[in-house]
Amino acid sequence: MAGSREQFGSKLGFILAAAGSAVGIGNLVGFPVGAAKNGGGAFLVMYALFVCFICLPVMIAEMTAGRASQKDPLGAYTSLSNKQPGWRIAGWLSIVTPFMIAVFYLVITIWIFGYLVESVIGNLDVLANPDTFGMFINSYSLFAYMAGVLVIVYLILQGGVKQGIEKAAKILMPALFIMLLALVVFVLTRDNAMAGVEFYLVPDFSKIDAGVVNGALSQAFFSLSLGMGIMITYGSYIDKRANLPQSAKLVALTDTAVAFTAGLMILPAIFSFNPNVNTASLSESSISMIFSYLPQIFLEMQNSLGYVGASIVAATFFLLVFFAAITSLVSIFEVPVASLMSEKDISRKRSLMICGALLVILSVFCALSFGFVDFFTSFVSYANSEKSFFDVVYDVFYDTILPLNGLLICLFVSYRWRKRGFNDELDMGSEGYKGSLIQKYVDFSLSTFIPIILAAIFINTV
Ligand code: PHE
Repeated sequence: MAGSREQFGSKLGFILAAAGSAVGIGNLVGFPVGAAKNGGGAFLVMYALFVCFICLPVMIAEMTAGRASQKDPLGAYTSLSNKQPGWRIAGWLSIVTPFMIAVFYLVITIWIFGYLVESVIGNLDVLANPDTFGMFINSYSLFAYMAGVLVIVYLILQGGVKQGIEKAAKILMPALFIMLLALVVFVLTRDNAMAGVEFYLVPDFSKIDAGVVNGALSQAFFSLSLGMGIMITYGSYIDKRANLPQSAKLVALTDTAVAFTAGLMILPAIFSFNPNVNTASLSESSISMIFSYLPQIFLEMQNSLGYVGASIVAATFFLLVFFAAITSLVSIFEVPVASLMSEKDISRKRSLMICGALLVILSVFCALSFGFVDFFTSFVSYANSEKSFFDVVYDVFYDTILPLNGLLICLFVSYRWRKRGFNDELDMGSEGYKGSLIQKYVDFSLSTFIPIILAAIFINTV
């Protein structure tokens, strides 16, 4: 099948698809709250430095390995290492990790879809009730929403790279940018909004400690969809004439710009509609923020906008988050789907069916982890607490294996493959890359301090 590999139709399409993967729940809610609580402007500067100096080289490495091999992550590690069995394990990890992350990301996407539908049909007052979330995630309606999300993901992925992933990104991403800007403008023109901007941006260097530094780096790494095999897979669909360092820069810039802009939406909204906000109580978790706290803020808006106006703002917000989640879910699920297709030489439809069936089974287990079924709710016990099935998948694959995968790609590119043409591949489409300062920085960082930092994070979580 090597000769018939699908490709993105345009450079813009590729950048939008990769940015679609990168822009997710982490950008829209996790980043703003994390930044505001951890030193404001000080956090932002640190985050931006991490994106430029640590994450960008890793993203370039992943995209380049994909384009050079024209294969899925397993195929890339296998062929570029000349079939060394050890590297095949790294390849396997790059397929299993995204699959398992898709398992729990699907569950969160289902919740968002549910909240979107409920706000559209006028149930904002129900969503704002603090007990609703707990009931909602344990209700049978979840399975109807699950079916809805699966149909959407199936329809996008069965269209393939150009007609599915790229087309969806070209519609969903501009829509996302417009909704985000509209909400920012709306929020910033409200009374007291500037208090939120201040809380978000004024630097407080005293908040920065080792934990905050680690958190900022993990957030940046996750936000750029690294360590999940996604950029390897998407990289394998790019034209040899594309300028990879430049594309990676654009993706990172878009992702960071969306995260930054989201801060100008979330925090002013909170300060404006809840002027007595207790900043210490702003939840750490993006999840409770989206599902418990923000609906109350939206309902507050009815005093000035009326119930319908407030519902429109809420529905726009959930649609925005839903689009961000769908493009991320599609990208992460494409990794196992594309891998199975090429490893077993089967059709896209068949691969989707097989991966989809496995995804549904494991995601149902995750969805039942919140009190629905005891077995999944109290699945195992470690680190002095009872963990649900959902927690286990999250802790193992998201918290632990992700930095390990990043470490492996750095070591692979630097010590196994570089001699065989990492820089030749990068030079294609970006003449003058070899010998440039960027090349020297990428080579140096990937072979020295980036793997050391990722190893430290990995060891720390284990
Ligand atoms: N980058 C996404 C975010 O910021 C994370 C993600 C990407 C999750 C792809 C799943 C799949 O939310």
